[in-house]
Amino acid sequence: MFDGHSTKIKSVQWKVAGSTFLLLAFTVCSLIFLTQHQMEAAFGDYLSLHLAVMEHGAAETMFIHSVHQSLWWVGLFFILLGFIISSFIAASITRPLRRLTAAAEEVRHGHFDQRVAVTSKDEVGRLADVFNQMAAELSRSEKSQRDFFASITHELRTPLAVLQGTLENMTSGVTKPTPERLFALQEEVMRLNRLVTDLRDLSLAEVHELRLHKEPCDLGQLAAQTAMLMQPLFDEKQQKLQLNIPANLPLLQLDKDRLRQVIGNLLVNASRHTQHGSHIELTVEERPKELCLTVKDDGPGISATELPHIFDKFYQSQDTAGGSGIGLALAKQYVEIQHGRITVSSPPAGGTSFCIHLPKP
Ligand SMILES: Nc1ncnc2c1ncn2[C@@H]1O[C@H](COP(=O)(O)OP(=O)(O)O)[C@@H](O)[C@H]1O
Ligand SMILES: [Mg+2]
Repeated sequence: MFDGHSTKIKSVQWKVAGSTFLLLAFTVCSLIFLTQHQMEAAFGDYLSLHLAVMEHGAAETMFIHSVHQSLWWVGLFFILLGFIISSFIAASITRPLRRLTAAAEEVRHGHFDQRVAVTSKDEVGRLADVFNQMAAELSRSEKSQRDFFASITHELRTPLAVLQGTLENMTSGVTKPTPERLFALQEEVMRLNRLVTDLRDLSLAEVHELRLHKEPCDLGQLAAQTAMLMQPLFDEKQQKLQLNIPANLPLLQLDKDRLRQVIGNLLVNASRHTQHGSHIELTVEERPKELCLTVKDDGPGISATELPHIFDKFYQSQDTAGGSGIGLALAKQYVEIQHGRITVSSPPAGGTSFCIHLPKP
């Protein structure tokens, strides 16, 4: 506990000032005693050698007494001066520490916007700097957590409201539960289910707790299979999907399902975020240290201001229809937990190209 009383008694300032005072008092007193002793001895020798006087008279005794007194006054002055200086030095060390303690108390109560002024370059200044960085990090993570929950709520509320409204209309007899309507409801439930599963997997992948089922895998074959399953999507928008996949690629240890999901996400994006009749290329190439899978489209591209955010959870461009904005966040996590990386480029002339780099064994 940190109450006012213990602050006074256990304060570093008083500890430093007190111990300096004791040390100084001890040193000065020892010096005075030593000086007095030597002075008296030297004075006695002087009297007996030069003046042949063996006993001290009144004048000699007064002289010795006044020297003693002066020595004590000088000693006292230096002890007090040392105490005042050491108190100031101790206060200058502890003042920033007190400010840090107050700021840390605020952070403990959830006020993450606390910062302390860094006024020195010594250890205390470094501590203040680290504290500020820690508070900024906490503030950022709290904000992203808040945004995350707000986005989840938003993503779930709309489809749930649609489902509730439609079901209420059906139960009250306003609309008939035709097979088409029931099918649409089922689609919506499936979409919600997918979203919740994706969110769970994403949070597990973020803390490296997602179980992977790795097995030897031909990336080219996997890409071709995924593309084949998605052909109807491209046909619907009269888009052309071109495959550039060489044979005899080295096998990689991969979780096929997760990787299929990543490639699927990139292909869905290439279809969804480009116009009717666009041209999309899916390329796999072997490089000296890695295999690269590229999904390239000739759509409108992604602006330079948006590019740094597209892998963020729930990030969607203004004009996006459908989707939930977690496809790329999930793709990034799935690739990274398999020791790969995902890059994107979108030149000002248009078109976007996503590339998955997977290291060769
Ligand atoms: N091929 C692409 N062309 C243009 N923009 C894209 C492309 N792929 C992704 N994006 C942008 O990145 C955002 C995030 O993508 P994603 O996480 O898959 O979310 P969603 O597809 O659900 O919107 C999209 O909303 C879109 O703005
Ligand atoms: Mg997407």
